[in-house]
Amino acid sequence: MEQQNNEIKDAYNDWAAQYDTNHNHTRDMEGIAMRCTLKDITFNNCLELGCGTGKNTAWLLTQAQHLTAVDLSERMLEKAREKVQSEKVNFVQADITQGWSFVKRPCDLITFSLLLEHIEDISAIFSKAVHVLKPGGYIYIGELHSIKQYMGSKARYETPEGTKELICFTHHTSDFFKLAKLHQLDIVEFEEHFDNDDRKNIPRILTFLLQKK
Ligand SMILES: C[S@@+](CC[C@H](N)C(=O)[O-])C[C@H]1O[C@@H](n2cnc3c(N)ncnc32)[C@H](O)[C@@H]1O
Repeated sequence: MEQQNNEIKDAYNDWAAQYDTNHNHTRDMEGIAMRCTLKDITFNNCLELGCGTGKNTAWLLTQAQHLTAVDLSERMLEKAREKVQSEKVNFVQADITQGWSFVKRPCDLITFSLLLEHIEDISAIFSKAVHVLKPGGYIYIGELHSIKQYMGSKARYETPEGTKELICFTHHTSDFFKLAKLHQLDIVEFEEHFDNDDRKNIPRILTFLLQKK
């Protein structure tokens, strides 16, 4: 696992310079989906896992009193730090498959935006998340839809040597439902998001809003 995560880290360090400027419908749609899902809720302590270049960080700060934003890639974090300067945010470089010493206080929102496809054992991550979540706290997940993953879509970017595909793990939509049930999380919302809102096509993004009892 360590070797795989090192490869993922190297790839994001390489991708960071162009991540924000690439044409990337998945990145953009997830940002819209997240705002739509969380717009009516405010939070004290938010944990943004896999914050990347901070696409969602500034917006989350409008809903939260304090935010810890975590990412594996130093270069992605550098971009996020340039973008978001606030006393309310604490950026941390860490691998979320390892210890969660970056959590200093119980959270009332944990977000995963386009991260879980890089995590093989999402069950272990759910256990850690539920452990640090306050009762009544929320978990938000925004992922490339499983159907897109079955069709071969995955995180990729262009390099002078050609297209670089990242290490990804397919998670079935039912896996998220099963994990929610296992951890006694209420499914507040499950939504599928379609390109141009065209429901005759296959969905691109799935989102879950889960709540700890
Ligand atoms: C597709 S990017 C998404 C970034 C941002 N959330 C967004 O929606 O634009 C995935 C991010 O997850 C991070 N990541 C991947 N594996 C990770 C791990 N094991 N621990 C922490 N971050 C990880 C990557 O470094 C990358 O920044």
